[in-house]
Amino acid sequence: MTTPEIVTVALDQRSYDIVIGTDLLGQAGARIGPLLSGPRPILITDTNVARHHLTAVLDSFAAENINPSVIELEPGEHTKGFDRFTLLIDTILDQVPERSTTLIALGGGVVGDIVGFAASIILRGIDFIQIPTTILAQVDSSVGGKTGINTRHGKNLVGTFYQPRLVLADTRALDTLPRRQILAGYAEIVKYGLLGDADFFEWLEGHGEAMIAGDQDARRYAVTFCCQAKAAIVVQDERETGKRALLNLGHTFAHALEAETGYGDTLLHGEAVAIGMVMAFDLSAKTGLCDPEEAARVRAHLDLVGLPTGIRNIAGPHWTSEKLLHHMRQDKKVRDGRITFILANAIGDAFITSDIDLSAVSALLENAISA
Ligand SMILES: NC(=O)c1ccc[n+]([C@@H]2O[C@H](COP(=O)([O-])OP(=O)(O)OC[C@H]3O[C@@H](n4cnc5c(N)ncnc54)[C@H](O)[C@@H]3O)[C@@H](O)[C@H]2O)c1
Ligand SMILES: [Zn+2]
Repeated sequence: MTTPEIVTVALDQRSYDIVIGTDLLGQAGARIGPLLSGPRPILITDTNVARHHLTAVLDSFAAENINPSVIELEPGEHTKGFDRFTLLIDTILDQVPERSTTLIALGGGVVGDIVGFAASIILRGIDFIQIPTTILAQVDSSVGGKTGINTRHGKNLVGTFYQPRLVLADTRALDTLPRRQILAGYAEIVKYGLLGDADFFEWLEGHGEAMIAGDQDARRYAVTFCCQAKAAIVVQDERETGKRALLNLGHTFAHALEAETGYGDTLLHGEAVAIGMVMAFDLSAKTGLCDPEEAARVRAHLDLVGLPTGIRNIAGPHWTSEKLLHHMRQDKKVRDGRITFILANAIGDAFITSDIDLSAVSALLENAISA
């Protein structure tokens, strides 16, 4: 058994550790037990994750004489809908939680986002702990304290900033994740290299495929790197008034593509981010900010591992640049009507700008659609 890595998110009284390693589901009871003060904790998961991992987690709690009550949700983004959320809140309240009750989220970003939001509002705020089981959740959604649900007006428009007490990221839990989900999460890993660390991107060019295939050392290194990178940004800008927006590299384009495909299986978030990052680098190259060779290198790596890199890869909608620009204007990050883009001077050197000529964006989209 190797010693896990620990990344601390240093936010004064709300500081917490992200523990990254290989045997953490089996140690969940021992690691979480000391943080519990109140009545039985409530563990919330989805049925896919429960099938693979719930027994291991419950056994680890039983070994510490902890017997959480368990709520199993349907897997999928629809579980983040407002109606579903009110049902969840009632189910949690049926357990008569107290201020000292802890919620435990075992699952991907969907479970993490709703459990975090529930914890932030039940009894005006109770503790919660994240056990992320997808790559996306381990490197992104479980870190940094954004919680949220979806409404008919859009995704994540209702939510809170609310930090967990602890995050346990077990890279072996990823072994049961379908390859498509692994790749989608991998796109977010690549993002950290592209936005701030060329050496990490180079490491991914050498080790990314092994990481995807299940090399635990590579997974641990990559997850730890990403959590450190995200934590460093979050402690400087917890509520995204500035630098945190860098984490949206590729996301302005991605959100437009997702809005058009309906946030479903046609195009997973990470797949949209892969295409979005290619577009962000292409736009940077076209506007003379970055060397076209850099943009080509980004595309080549994402292609190599099997992620989509162009709109033409996506089946379904009839794409037009007008529709995509329309979605970009609806994004919740639009300020004073100006769309924010994350562009790059080079791999590892991204920056935030609202000063982009939309005709260049439109031309890029036209090009991507007809390519
Ligand atoms: N809070 C944030 O900062 C933040 C950041 C990024 C994304 N998100 C949110 O995260 C959500 C997406 O998260 P996700 O990609 O993890 O999706 P998800 O939670 O829907 O999980 C993807 C699928 O994998 C299954 N699954 C999860 N773990 C598994 C495992 N170990 N083995 C087998 N199957 C497993 C799930 O049941 C689901 O079917 C979106 O709602 C997005 O808005 C939030
Ligand atoms: Zn993302």
